[in-house]
Amino acid sequence: MNMKHTAQLVVGGLLAAVACANSWAQKFDGLASTPQMGWNSWNKFACDIDERLIRETADAMVRQGLKDAGYQYVNIDDCWQGQRDADGTIQPDPKRFPSGMKALADYVHGKGLKLGIYSDAGATTCGGRPGSRGHEYQDARTYASWGIDYVKYDWCDTPGLNAEAAYTTMRDAIAKAGRPMLFSICEWGMSKPWEWAGKVGHSWRTTPDIYNCFDCQFSPGFSTGLGVLRILDKHADAGLRKFAGPGHWNDMDMLEVGNGMSDDEDRAHLSIWAMMASPLILGNDLRSMSEATRRILTNPGVIAVSQDKLGVQALRVLADGPLELYAKPLDGGEWALMFLNRSNQPADVDHDWKKQVLIDDLSKRSVDFKQSVYRWSDLWSKKTGDTSTKLKARLAPHSVLMLRLTGPAKP
Ligand code: GLA
Repeated sequence: MNMKHTAQLVVGGLLAAVACANSWAQKFDGLASTPQMGWNSWNKFACDIDERLIRETADAMVRQGLKDAGYQYVNIDDCWQGQRDADGTIQPDPKRFPSGMKALADYVHGKGLKLGIYSDAGATTCGGRPGSRGHEYQDARTYASWGIDYVKYDWCDTPGLNAEAAYTTMRDAIAKAGRPMLFSICEWGMSKPWEWAGKVGHSWRTTPDIYNCFDCQFSPGFSTGLGVLRILDKHADAGLRKFAGPGHWNDMDMLEVGNGMSDDEDRAHLSIWAMMASPLILGNDLRSMSEATRRILTNPGVIAVSQDKLGVQALRVLADGPLELYAKPLDGGEWALMFLNRSNQPADVDHDWKKQVLIDDLSKRSVDFKQSVYRWSDLWSKKTGDTSTKLKARLAPHSVLMLRLTGPAKP
């Protein structure tokens, strides 16, 4: 064996080791044992973002009590990017982020919060900025050096790319960079990511972008925007719930609470996202939101349902015209229930608990209200009661009645 062969063997061995390391690469554990909570710039600001907005949003997250309520990520979406330098290292837009991302991360961390960033598996992002294709390892290293905590990774400009392979490359790049960064897959459900993404990312978008309305759809040519109920129906019908759980969530997209729907619709929107164990990523202007919006977003009972450590996505147990009932098993034998009025007319709930055994095959939990009495508390109105008597209520248009059931109290 000559020197050249020895060198080839050593190089071959190294390559094999790298390949092994890659196939063993894992996403970081423990970053989303409950659905992630934070804010993202896109829904309200689109490309009109700069470092001042991000700093002021971090300030508002603390000042408005959102941090105390559990929101922790401040996520910069598309359009932060400038050009790549001569080495290919991505630079932030110098006009909008003149202090650089490291300084911004330090600022956000100084508030006890975390900073997220956005890129795309293609060469160009949806907003036409440089994407990460061919620069995945370099970009992950750059983000780690800035102190980034969260990467949302989009799917524009990817013809011919295999989604699982492309997202796995970025997962491995993040693992190699060595800094725990939550990996949020944004592929709009095109390749059924729920079937492969549990090992790759911490959440995956399941639908096209949300559109700021309760019951409508917007289809301007190529792109589609779905209102709250359209996104819910994709989750309630598609059997997606078995793919969700601690560390890996179906992502129904960022919230539109505070962006113009009615308060009832906003309460329903947040309740639905909490019941479905979707990430809770705010999409409004935190600096100027109304007190009503602030109270909705910080409702502790609803957030506790979202963040329940069992991590089971709700199932639809009843669909009776415009009225639907959803149930989410909670830790410690408790349940969250949500009656939803889909209609733009009031609807009456007249629910005889004893007529239906609540069964969830997925979590192997059931309740027969003929056998057990549970106490309930209404997470929005704060009323209380129990399941020994019928539940009667009038639901306003596009509203929910959301209950937490504890018990059983007595046989
Ligand atoms: C896609 C994503 C959105 C947002 C924009 C940014 O549409 O689905 O959430 O990130 O790109 O351009």
